[in-house]
Amino acid sequence: MKIDGTHFRSIWREAGGTVKIIDQRWLPHELRIVALNSRADFATAIRDMWVRGAPLIGATAAYGVAVQMAADPSDASLAQTWDVLHETRPTAINLRWALDEMTRVLKPLPPADRAKAAFARAAEICDEDVETNRMIGVHGLELIRDIAAQKGGGRVNVLTHCNAGWLATVDWGTATSPIYHALEAGIDVHVFVDETRPRNQGAQLTAWEMNHHGVSHDLIVDNAGGHLMQHGEVDLVIVGTDRTTAQGDVCNKIGTYLKALAAADNNVPFYVALPSPTIDWTVRDGVAEIPIEERGAAEITHVQGRMPSGVVGLVQISPDGSPARNPAFDVTPARLVSGLITERGIAPANAAGLAAMFPDRATGASA
Ligand code: MRU
Repeated sequence: MKIDGTHFRSIWREAGGTVKIIDQRWLPHELRIVALNSRADFATAIRDMWVRGAPLIGATAAYGVAVQMAADPSDASLAQTWDVLHETRPTAINLRWALDEMTRVLKPLPPADRAKAAFARAAEICDEDVETNRMIGVHGLELIRDIAAQKGGGRVNVLTHCNAGWLATVDWGTATSPIYHALEAGIDVHVFVDETRPRNQGAQLTAWEMNHHGVSHDLIVDNAGGHLMQHGEVDLVIVGTDRTTAQGDVCNKIGTYLKALAAADNNVPFYVALPSPTIDWTVRDGVAEIPIEERGAAEITHVQGRMPSGVVGLVQISPDGSPARNPAFDVTPARLVSGLITERGIAPANAAGLAAMFPDRATGASA
């Protein structure tokens, strides 16, 4: 999507061969672009959330493998890279998907051929993500179009949580793609952006994306969604996901579950937008089996923002010595999900629905 009129992806390889990313830690206040030159750089960028969002984590890992293959294409290096990158963040399944995919392509090749093939497959993974997200938008648009028709052309209000926008993917975003498509179709669409404590991906990233694309939006505190739903101000919730089980349980940024409960209580449709690499066909019970990342307490006790001086910094908001717990994701059971917006269409959030949509991928675990 565009920043000040110039089209950007969240990760790209320059003509000279260098892989670059937008360092998202500084948004919305500073646009910093950095080069990642070694496997260690890639691991740091994922672990410390210079890049984040399930699809972008996968794409970044793919390029991390490629950069390492240029340095050392041996079998041992390939296997070690899988381990080093896989341990950076535990919840988003796209990370494992991308590492497995790179290994599948590279392992049969002689080491001398691996770097070239790795850069080619990483570039394809990025292009596939862009096309997948575009198609999610095409399918999700129909939901928004239907609601607009029901409202006689009135404004459609969509609530979203965290950042499942283009910065979380290579381009388009997942939850935001239907919104961009609705805008292009001339539908009056408005977005309520959850700030998404503790790291404020909604306030810092989604709001920034909406601003740059001219999407009507209001930033709201995480606790406001239920109230707005009770008062008929939300027509539709669309969120992203870091891992969705074959049964349709949805793991996403902490707080998503509470939004789903509020949506169910108020008969507001609750949809999840996801590219198929986000489906974990091996997990049966999302609540019991998906590893939930626990991040540092400083994300709770401190908040980053721009000081009146213009400097971007951290301020402490809690008393010295108060401990904090920071589970970064939660699982919304499939029964609370109205549907899954995929690149192939909208699937019911259950094993039969997903298996029918992806008969070529579904495994025994979905039965
Ligand atoms: O901790 P983050 O910022 O990586 O969490 C991101 C999310 O939870 C997104 O909603 C999810 O990855 C879907 S992105 C299309």
